[in-house]
Amino acid sequence: MKDAASTNNIPRTAPRQSATFNESVNSEIRRAAATGIYDIRGGGAKRRVPHFDDLLFLGASISRYPLEGYREKCDTTVVLGTRFAKKPITITTPVTIAGMSFGSLSANAKEALGRGATLAGTSTTTGDGGMTEEERGHSEKLVYQVLPSRYGMNPDDLRRADAIEVVVGQGAKPGGGGMLLGQKITERVAEMRTLPVGIDQRSACRHPDWTGPDDLEIKLLELREITDWEKPIYVKIGGARPYYDTTLAVKAGADVVVLDGMQGGTAATQEVFIEHIGQPTLACIRPAVQALQDMGMHRKVQLIVSGGIRTGADVAKALALGADAVSIGTAALVALGDNDPALEEEYQKLGTTAGAYDDWHEGQDPAGITTQDPDLMKRLDPIAGGRRLHNYLSVLTLETQTIARACGHNHVHNLEPEDLCALTVEAAAMAGVPLAGTDWIPGRGGY
Ligand SMILES: Cc1cc2nc3c(=O)[nH]c(=O)nc-3n(C[C@H](O)[C@H](O)[C@H](O)COP(=O)(O)O)c2cc1C
Repeated sequence: MKDAASTNNIPRTAPRQSATFNESVNSEIRRAAATGIYDIRGGGAKRRVPHFDDLLFLGASISRYPLEGYREKCDTTVVLGTRFAKKPITITTPVTIAGMSFGSLSANAKEALGRGATLAGTSTTTGDGGMTEEERGHSEKLVYQVLPSRYGMNPDDLRRADAIEVVVGQGAKPGGGGMLLGQKITERVAEMRTLPVGIDQRSACRHPDWTGPDDLEIKLLELREITDWEKPIYVKIGGARPYYDTTLAVKAGADVVVLDGMQGGTAATQEVFIEHIGQPTLACIRPAVQALQDMGMHRKVQLIVSGGIRTGADVAKALALGADAVSIGTAALVALGDNDPALEEEYQKLGTTAGAYDDWHEGQDPAGITTQDPDLMKRLDPIAGGRRLHNYLSVLTLETQTIARACGHNHVHNLEPEDLCALTVEAAAMAGVPLAGTDWIPGRGGY
């Protein structure tokens, strides 16, 4: 039967998609309805949230004097762990490699990360699942993670590490644990984690042996005693309540606070966690810096920021907001070859496309990075991968240096909030810098 519009020859309105129920939302509803299982994936938040792109550097002109690129030095050295450790770590770039577990990543990928980081003069980090020989052997500076799961935890490895990182949370999933599906639990992974082969595994969401800041202090002391007060002790937190969590980590005795915002990647977690829990990286930095300043600890306890760092501009912006260094996960994997369009045909076979591939938990990664399949893993040459990562880290360092010079600074740590303005009211409020063209910093007040 014809409706009134067509009967009267009145033109129809063009069909409209709903912004609320768009095709991506509808396809997830259909998937959930068909399976009854929540969606798990790797990677970080895909939705747009205020980020470093919403900030700009002002650059020097008359009131500030820029440095000459080829003649005047701009130092990029960072020392981590200066508070209590007898042997702090010195890195020659403000960019470190974040903790990514063996199990989520192949042994070749871990080796490539170690090789690239070492060539670049920086550190890499273990992860859930322990320390591999490839990784230790090829990483000049290796940070050993102590995680809630205790998978692969070995007191001897604490002593073989250059620093210890106690993981309280991750930006992708504050309050949640990770997952490693059976497909990736090979004999080697199972042995390191003391788990059965081929059975899905969930990491614990909280440490089994401490429940609050007082216990955390005791745990950090234990770790210091085991390592003879030599190694810097980091505490990693997800972007939940950065002011209070930073304060408590420092009070518990951390040498370094690692702060991971909501865009931070993960190997595998529920989609609903990744997209809906935690604060954007940009919103986390100023409260954490404020906490350090309120305790007189800024630059005494170092702050490493992660979650969506991609370029030297991102690095420089994080430093200008008060971080001492940044950490990268996803970008390092892309540098190794993750989501390379050259593999498009293979991504299509997996029902996805280059740039969108995030089923890292399934272990079928055609780039040989997020897999334990022996044939796929061979596709990543750790030497060539390490070289690519080194090149990429060099570019990040040079870009950060270029920006610092343009702002008139002879050390990247001299970048400051006054070098920045924001493009949106939201970013101005989160970063605590003026909206471009104004001297207005919205939302100054308590945390
Ligand atoms: C494949 C993968 C595995 C990860 N495994 C761990 C882990 O074992 N422990 C941990 O603290 N964080 C882990 N993370 C999170 C990273 O340490 C880091 O917080 C995050 O990747 C930073 O954000 P970015 O990926 O945007 O650089 C993992 C991330 C990825 C991508």
